[in-house]
Amino acid sequence: MRKISLFIYLLTFYSFQVAFAINPSDKLIGKDVSVFYPSHYDEHQHQPSMALLKEPKVTGDIPTNWEYNPHFYSKEGKTYATLSVAKGTSLYGTGETTGTLIRNGKTITLWNTDNFKYSIDNGKRLYQSQPWVLGVNADGTSFGVIADNTWKQQIDLSDSIRFISNGPAFRLIIIKRNSPQEVIRELTNLIGRMEMPPLWALGYQQSRFSYVPDTRIKSVADTFRLKNIPCDVIWMDINYMERFKIFTFDKVKIPDPKEVNDYLHKTGFHSIWMIDPGVKVEKGYSVYESGTLGDRWVQTSTHREFHGNVWPGQCVFPDFTIPETRTWWSGLYRDFMATGADGIWNDMNEPSVFDGPDGTMPENNWHRGGGDLPAGNHLRYHNVYGMLMVKASRVGLLNANPDKRPFVLSRSGYLGSNRYAATWTGDNSGTVDNMKLAIPMSLNLGLSGQAFSGPDMGGFTGITTPDLFGQWVAMGAFFPFMRGHASNETNNKEPWAFGPEIEDVSRTALNRRYRLLPYFYTLFYEASKTGMPIMRPVFFSNPKDTLLRKEQQVFLVGNDLLIIPKWAEHPSLPEGNWRTISIAGENSLNDKYQADVRIKEGAIVPLGKIIQNTAQYNLDSLTLLVSLDQKGEARGTLYEDAGEGFNYLKGEYRTFEFRAKQKGNILSVKIDSKKGSLKHPGRNYKVKLVTDNSSVEGTWTKSSLLHITVASTMLTKN
Ligand code: GLC
Repeated sequence: MRKISLFIYLLTFYSFQVAFAINPSDKLIGKDVSVFYPSHYDEHQHQPSMALLKEPKVTGDIPTNWEYNPHFYSKEGKTYATLSVAKGTSLYGTGETTGTLIRNGKTITLWNTDNFKYSIDNGKRLYQSQPWVLGVNADGTSFGVIADNTWKQQIDLSDSIRFISNGPAFRLIIIKRNSPQEVIRELTNLIGRMEMPPLWALGYQQSRFSYVPDTRIKSVADTFRLKNIPCDVIWMDINYMERFKIFTFDKVKIPDPKEVNDYLHKTGFHSIWMIDPGVKVEKGYSVYESGTLGDRWVQTSTHREFHGNVWPGQCVFPDFTIPETRTWWSGLYRDFMATGADGIWNDMNEPSVFDGPDGTMPENNWHRGGGDLPAGNHLRYHNVYGMLMVKASRVGLLNANPDKRPFVLSRSGYLGSNRYAATWTGDNSGTVDNMKLAIPMSLNLGLSGQAFSGPDMGGFTGITTPDLFGQWVAMGAFFPFMRGHASNETNNKEPWAFGPEIEDVSRTALNRRYRLLPYFYTLFYEASKTGMPIMRPVFFSNPKDTLLRKEQQVFLVGNDLLIIPKWAEHPSLPEGNWRTISIAGENSLNDKYQADVRIKEGAIVPLGKIIQNTAQYNLDSLTLLVSLDQKGEARGTLYEDAGEGFNYLKGEYRTFEFRAKQKGNILSVKIDSKKGSLKHPGRNYKVKLVTDNSSVEGTWTKSSLLHITVASTMLTKN
C-alpha cells in the first residue's frame, strides 16, 4: 500500500531536485505515534530535539494501513515535508497566530518576531513558534503533526499540511487518535506539561509600562484594596531598572526594592519584575563584566562578541545554548529574588534587536552550544532562544527559592516552552478586533501545548475606551492568564480608570473569576497531568459536530462552563441544555457587559468565596453548582493543595468527587475524597441547584452526603 503511494509521489514530484524514498527508519514510537524521516536526515542538525522531552524509543513497525504518510523533498534550497489532508478535515494549532481559530488555508512563518501591534507581515509571524498542526477529521477522529525542527520555517495549510524550512531536512512525528483531546494528551506526553503554578498566578494581575516610582506601585496596590477589586499581582516593567540595565534598580525611583516587595506582601500582593535578555555594554556594570569574563555572549559569524541595540542601547546577548551560560544566568537571580520578588517576566526574548536585520540578530550569528547541544548558527537557534532563556530563569528562581513554585512569563516561545513558562500574546492594541482575536489566539496556543496564556487585557497600545475595557474585562475573567497591561503612551487602564460604571463591571467580573478559582485550579491540575487546555474550543464538546469547528466567539472553560461574551453574534453553541448561572450575584442576562456563563447539564462546578486575593483563599465552605442531566444526575471534581510549594508532589493534595442524584423531590449529593493525603478540617457545603429558569439553594451541612429537599416544581424540566 505504502509502496504504491510512494510511486505516485515520485511521479508527481519528478521535477524536484530530490525525491526521497520512505525511509526504513520510519517507525512507531508509541501506540499510533509514528516518526518519519527524510532520507537525507542529519541528526546533528536537529538533535537533541528541543520540543520533545526525550528522544523517542522505537516500539515497532508502522502498520501497513497507517493513513498519514508524509513525503519529503527539497527544492530551491528549502526542505519540505507534506502531508495530504482529507476533505472535511479541520486544522488547528500552529501555535501563536492571528486570524481565525480554524487554520485551513492559512500560511504562517515560524520566526519569533517582536511584532508591535501584530503589524509586521500582517501578524503572520509572531513571538512564538510551534511547528505543530492538529487535524480533526470529518468524523471527529484526529491526528497531529510535529515538525521536529527549530530552523526558520513556514507552515502552509493552503491545500495540505506543508512545512517549508530554510534549514536541513527534518523529521515529522505523527500522532493518530480518536479525538482531538486524545491528540493533545499525546502531544503533551511527548513535549511535556506545565507544572502546577502557584495559586496566586491564577488571580488578577495588574501591569503597566511602567509603575514607577515606588510610591506609584504602592498606590496602585492600595487602590485595589480600597475599592475592593480583587487582585493578586503587581508587575514592574523596565523603568524600575537603572537605565534599563537588567538586575539593577533605579536608585531614585526604587531606592529599596525589598521594602516595596514587603509592602505588597503585607496586603496579599505578589510582585513580578521584568528581566530582558539584552545586557548593556558598559564597563563596571557587574552583569556585563561577569558575563564577559565568563565568555557568555552570542557571537557574530566571525566569532566576535555580537552587539545590538535594545532598550539600554548597545547590548550583548547571553548564548543560552552554552550550559555554563545558563548556569551563570540562573545564578543572577539569587540576589534579585532575595529582595522578595515573587516572579519574573522575561520579555524581548525572540530576541528583539532594534537595529538588527528583521528586528533580531543576523541569521549567521554563532551559538556555541555545549553538553549535548551542538554549536550552530542563529537560523537554527533563533526560535528556541527564548525557550532556553526561560529554562535557565526557571532554574534560577527554583535555586533562589527552593520551596516555591517558580513563575516565569515569557513573550517568546517554542513548542515545549510550556514546561518552563506561561505566556502572553505580546503587544496587542486596544481595539475591538484585538479583543475578539484574543480568543482564537489563546485557544490555538492551548491546542499547541501551551495551556497558560492570555492577552494584555484591555489592549497594550492605543487608547482603550471605557466600553471596550468593560467588554474585555468581562471576557478576560475566564482566560487562564489574566493580566491588565498598558503601554507607556496610553491612557491609564486600571479597572477604576474608566469611571464608576466600568469599575463596577470590573469588580463583578473579577468576583466571578475569584469565586471560580476552585474550578480553575482543578483545571490547572488537569492541565499539569494531561495537557488538556484550560480554555477550550467549543468543538471539544462534540468533535463530531462540524458546525462547531469554526466557532471562535464563545469558548469553554474546562468541559463544564460555556462562556458567551456579550458581543458574540449568532455563535454556534454546543448541543444540550447549558443553563445560565449567576456566579457572584450578577444577572448576566440583563447586563450589558458580563458574559453569559452557562453550565453543562450533568455537571457540578465548585465555587469558593468572593475574596480580594488568593492569600484569603480557603475552602472551608464551598458552593456546589449542580446542573442535572436528563437522568437527574450530575458529577464534578475538585483538586486542592497548599497552592504553593512542592508537597503536592509527595501526595499532599486531595481530590474530591461530587455526585448528585435526584429522586422525587430529594436531591442527594455524595462527596468522595479518594486521593491524596492533604488534611482537611472538613468543610461546609452549600448546594445550589441550577434549573432552567432559576436556581435553588440547599442547606449547609458537614456530612459528606447531603439530602436536600427542594420543591418538586424546581426539579421538573421545562
Ligand atoms: C515590550 C513588551 C511590553 C513591555 C515593553 C516595555 O513591548 O511586549 O509588554 O511593556 O516591552 O518593557
